[in-house]
Amino acid sequence: MLTFSFLLLLGGLFASAGLVHADNPIAQDIYTTDPAPMVHDGRVYVFTGHEEDNSTWFTMLDWRLFSSADMVNWQHHGSPMDLKTFAWADLNAWAGQVIARNGKFYFYAPVRHKTTGAMAIGVGVSESITGPYTDALGSPLVENGEIDPTVYIDDDGQAYLYWGNPGLWYVKLNEDMISYSGDLIQVNLKVEGFGSREGSETERATAFEEGPWVYKRGHLYYMVFAANCCSENIQYSTGPSITGPRTYRGVIMPTQGASFTNHPGIVDFKGKSYFFYHNGALPGGGGFTRSVAVEEFAYNSDGTIPEINMSTDGPAQVGTLDTYSRQEAETIAWSDGIEVESASDGGIHVAYINNDDYIKVKGVAFGKGPSKFSARVSSASNGGNIELHLKSKDGKIIGTCSVPPTGGWEMWETTSCSISNTESTHDLFFIFTGDDTGYLFNFDWWQFSQ
Ligand SMILES: *[C@@H]1O[C@H](CO)[C@@H](O)[C@H](O)[C@H]1NC(C)=O
Ligand SMILES: *[C@@H]1O[C@H](CO)[C@@H](O)[C@H](O)[C@H]1NC(C)=O
Repeated sequence: MLTFSFLLLLGGLFASAGLVHADNPIAQDIYTTDPAPMVHDGRVYVFTGHEEDNSTWFTMLDWRLFSSADMVNWQHHGSPMDLKTFAWADLNAWAGQVIARNGKFYFYAPVRHKTTGAMAIGVGVSESITGPYTDALGSPLVENGEIDPTVYIDDDGQAYLYWGNPGLWYVKLNEDMISYSGDLIQVNLKVEGFGSREGSETERATAFEEGPWVYKRGHLYYMVFAANCCSENIQYSTGPSITGPRTYRGVIMPTQGASFTNHPGIVDFKGKSYFFYHNGALPGGGGFTRSVAVEEFAYNSDGTIPEINMSTDGPAQVGTLDTYSRQEAETIAWSDGIEVESASDGGIHVAYINNDDYIKVKGVAFGKGPSKFSARVSSASNGGNIELHLKSKDGKIIGTCSVPPTGGWEMWETTSCSISNTESTHDLFFIFTGDDTGYLFNFDWWQFSQ
């Protein structure tokens, strides 16, 4: 909802964030928003929105997907779904969430219905978590002008879809996940469950603004939400059932980070708990050029959630990155200059590499010391080099692999080079070098061997 007070507030909120060496936000080559994490097959997958470069409104045309097995090296899977998926929609690929059921993945997403001009919620379906997702219905699942769907399957198998801004609504989804039973039910927002509103926009009953995130942990049902437009923080309530009654529990994440919105997403993974959110921490970042970040936290023994601040460090790495299995080049802890793109066959690779761009991967386990490095590369220009540095961009070079011209940006070759003896676990920096005249090469995957 756009209000005059909303616009007035924007002016003060575009503080530019200085970028220090860090692992948050999780993607550096594009602006990402509205994280919706889920654990699947030993990895954390995070569905995000995607803001166009230099966006000055919520200009969003597709969703993106990232995954990690260690919470610090994130593989970019490209776009699993976009606006064109919904032939009946024309704008606003905004905050969605994916859930698995009966061997399929269901992607609930708000988009603008081009005939009515109202925001509606569509459902994408795919047999693979990475998509592509197709329109399950050919029309909206629900349409009431409100946004931000969150989905949860309760212990008895009943699935619920919650969504809303400015209201909060739910429906009971049927087992097929693409139809529902009963009416759309509007939650009666009470201060006991949703806190008191602060700031200038006093017409709303409670602090609830948007971005609900519903789940159960232990015996408690959580309703986590963005509160107090338009300098949002994240607040929550808990209750004994998914539909309440709810007890307001206060602020999880204070207003921070150069974006006037925020959006929560919470998962447990490998015995730890993680809180995803967005801010404006990338260069050029702000309220319409946001970035997804993540923090590790621990629940209190009574199930309440401690205060969580935004950080540039992010979580500790869980485990290490295996050097002896093939790693996708687009698995990245931090990068500078590069972009990730889809090839014509749908494969994803690192592209738009210029001289001195780099990729950092964190916690690479060299074990007893590999002797050879191989990389899948292509180049329609003069190629270049991949320098392998340990610990930092200026750290010790353990090898340099030359990338030859291959005659096309999708004509792939495997290049190899020997590396000096390197044991145990280190951060590894791939520094790309070559002539300064344009893009050097594309980079698909890498692997070490004996
Ligand atoms: C977008 O903004 C960046 C700075 O954040 C600037 O360097 C770039 O030239 C801009 N691009 C366009 C197309 O305006
Ligand atoms: C969050 O940051 C505020 C302000 O710097 C500080 O007072 C507070 O102790 C921090 N909370 C945590 C949990 O670190």
